[in-house]
Amino acid sequence: MPAVVLVGAQWGDEGKGKATDLLGSRVQYVVKFNGGNNAGHTIVIGDEKYALHLLPSGILTPGCTPVIGNGVVIDLEVLFVELDALTERGVDVSRLLVSANAHLIPSYNRTMDRVTERFLGKRMLGTTGRGIGPTYADKMNRVGIRVQDLFDEHILSQKVEGALTQKNPLLVKIFNRRAVDVDETVAELLSYAERIRPMVVDTALVLNKALDVGDTLLFEAGQATMLDVDHGTYPFVTSSSATAGGACTGSGVGPTRIDRVIGVAKAYATRVGEGPFPTELFDADGDRLREVGREYGTTTGRPRRCGWYDTVVARFASRVNGLTDLVITKLDVLTGFEKIPVCVAYEADGVRLDEMPPNQSAFHHAKPVYEELDGWREDISGARSFEDLPVNAQRYVRAIEELSGTRVSAIGVGPDRDATIVLHDLLD
Ligand code: GDP
Ligand code: IMO
Ligand code: MG
Repeated sequence: MPAVVLVGAQWGDEGKGKATDLLGSRVQYVVKFNGGNNAGHTIVIGDEKYALHLLPSGILTPGCTPVIGNGVVIDLEVLFVELDALTERGVDVSRLLVSANAHLIPSYNRTMDRVTERFLGKRMLGTTGRGIGPTYADKMNRVGIRVQDLFDEHILSQKVEGALTQKNPLLVKIFNRRAVDVDETVAELLSYAERIRPMVVDTALVLNKALDVGDTLLFEAGQATMLDVDHGTYPFVTSSSATAGGACTGSGVGPTRIDRVIGVAKAYATRVGEGPFPTELFDADGDRLREVGREYGTTTGRPRRCGWYDTVVARFASRVNGLTDLVITKLDVLTGFEKIPVCVAYEADGVRLDEMPPNQSAFHHAKPVYEELDGWREDISGARSFEDLPVNAQRYVRAIEELSGTRVSAIGVGPDRDATIVLHDLLD
């Protein structure tokens, strides 16, 4: 099974990092293809806990080559802080490859992210403030700075000057900030050039050659389907392609080479930041999901909004990603609920909607239509086969599988690498 894409099927934080880590020892390359250090992946290996932001989760697996693809945006300071922290903990990070075409997040874009959020007031998006949106905007606006620009000082200065010619009037006149100095910005970026140079290659060439010789590649998405700039709840989204198609544009590997697309979904749902979330709970059940599931952001520490599993969202994710497999995580968090509601459709303005409404306003007003399933009380964290699960937990998984439109291939029953039930091999 040479090329597998792994995406979030909900609003992020589904446990993609754990799923990638689980497969890590059997893949030769783990490729991050979108987003930047807005992502936060927590991986637990025995007593060790790692929080990764910019680096692909494959970095923790000896022998696996982690790749930062062209679709990623890189904050150089964060890159080296993360690499140094892992090195200090004994992780070998020497195999990391970085695309020469990936865009950089200059410090002025972190500033732009924060001031625009503040300026939006009540209409803010709740971004992570990492400069992600402004950097993708620069890329599309053709005023972005790329990794390869670090190796040509003249070009780098020209490009920074070009970008700041647009941004400084905004910063000064609209946002009441100090103008950013071209030379200071160039010097800051250049200070990382020699350190990153040995990692920089034509990653698309490397990855295609690896496929030619039969290596296995795992493309790991940051964020998730409902945060995708095209398919998500725009404008309450991130600024990149977090769905399966992004794996191609963000890496330079063509769609004919992708064999399988794995969606990761929690057994319930969460969201960080603003935007519609039909099954959101504002009661004790929501608080319980947050506390038992430890639903606090890996990146910003914000409490995550919590709600019930939404099969309309799951069917949508199944469609727009072409999912072949679903990994259901955090089933253990549902233990002890007497009844577990599952959203099967919406109701908006008196009309039942079985699929995602094409109009975002209808989605904002959508009320979930629930079916209630029976819960279970037994501790399931030690279950390692489907038969180990209490019958009601089995029924819950089968019900959401049926309603989600994709077969369930693995089930998470705890944060640790081993706390997983595998129903179908994800790589075979
Ligand atoms: P990602 O962004 O999709 O990689 O997910 P995050 O790491 O942000 O959030 C998922 C959280 O759930 C992490 O703290 C994981 O350690 C934890 N986790 C993953 N799978 C399971 C599971 O099956 N059960 C429990 N209890 N925790 C899990
Ligand atoms: P992982 O990879 C959850 C959310 C932010 C905000 C919106 C836009 O860990 O699943 P941005 O800074 O990207 O411009 O913010 O997207 N967001 C995430 N939510 N998990 C993530 O990543 C996220 N990355 C961004 O909270 O609502
Ligand atoms: Mg996360």
